[in-house]
Amino acid sequence: EKGGYDYFMLKEIAEQPKAVADTLLGRIGAEGQLTLDELRIPAQVLRMVDKVVIVACGTAFHAGLIAKYAIEHWTRIPCEVELASEFRYRDPILDARSLVIAISQSGETMDTLMALRHAREQGATVLAICNTNGSTIPRESDAVLYTHAGPEVAVASTKAFLTQLVACYLVALYLGQVRGTKWGDEIAAVVRELGRIGEEVERVLETMEPVRELARSLAGQDTVLFLGRHVGYPVALEGALKLKELAYMHAEGFAAGELKHGPIALIEDGVPVVVVVPSPRGRSVLHDKIVSNIQEIRARGARTIVIAEEGDEAVVPYADHLVRVPATPTLLQPLVATVPLQVFACELATARGNEVDQPRNLAKSVTVE
Ligand code: M6R
Repeated sequence: EKGGYDYFMLKEIAEQPKAVADTLLGRIGAEGQLTLDELRIPAQVLRMVDKVVIVACGTAFHAGLIAKYAIEHWTRIPCEVELASEFRYRDPILDARSLVIAISQSGETMDTLMALRHAREQGATVLAICNTNGSTIPRESDAVLYTHAGPEVAVASTKAFLTQLVACYLVALYLGQVRGTKWGDEIAAVVRELGRIGEEVERVLETMEPVRELARSLAGQDTVLFLGRHVGYPVALEGALKLKELAYMHAEGFAAGELKHGPIALIEDGVPVVVVVPSPRGRSVLHDKIVSNIQEIRARGARTIVIAEEGDEAVVPYADHLVRVPATPTLLQPLVATVPLQVFACELATARGNEVDQPRNLAKSVTVE
């Protein structure tokens, strides 16, 4: 059943190139246009949307945080992302022009289900991004985009996350297309890159041995910190969540710009800090700022584990450990940058003798509050 792997998690990490390709299958036309008619939300409804609200829990919430950057950038529609468990008990401002996106691997998460019911009561259109055919969340939504990642058995979400991201990008691009956003070079480049993202993920997977070795060397640590900014910030949160749930270690993700507002006080000799570095192309200001952050924490004793794109030479002098990922358009970087963090957490959990597929106290699908 585990296809020769020791754990379902390892199998599911390895399946990611195929999973992301399956999410894209039949959804991008020959001219690069999105064909998401399966959504069955009338174009006039999508043209009217003046606000997008994403609700989800855990890893799916992190996918939503990344989706916000893509949706606002490509569609210019304001987008909020909220934990379903908070949203459901709030008095959110929604109406018939609101599009609420509920992201859930299982389709059975109680808080996400309650959040979508709450949204529908107020007249919002609800779109589910889900991996489980016929589950409750898509059944109760107005529309669904299935991720087609195949069954995810390990409690820690991996391939579901990458495919949720792909589905979010597709929704963002489709919204832009329906609303007549200028089909510029940037969008064409993104669509092209999505078409080969499976191969890029495969390339990352082929270079993971040093990451596994590094993880084993950190098995005795108490704390690992994660830093990122822009779409790298949710990637940092996801890296920390993986480490908590699998390795039972104290792990926290921060927006790098917040360092001086508190977190830098945590830096002391030998603390491992994983830094997700944005591309030096495009938003290069952020790249340069994070390189300064790496210097600052290193000067205070941090052991820096730097995830940076191929060809980024500026990080080399400050990286105690350097993990390379392929260059991608900025908004797509999470698809490649998350993979080393999954491998890192899985290997650390193994080194600490933990049960990888069934971490203590956790269930695959949280159907209670
Ligand atoms: O099935 P869902 O996507 O709704 O589940 C949401 C969270 O419970 C889930 O992502 C959880 O955080 C994972 N164990 C993370 O690896």
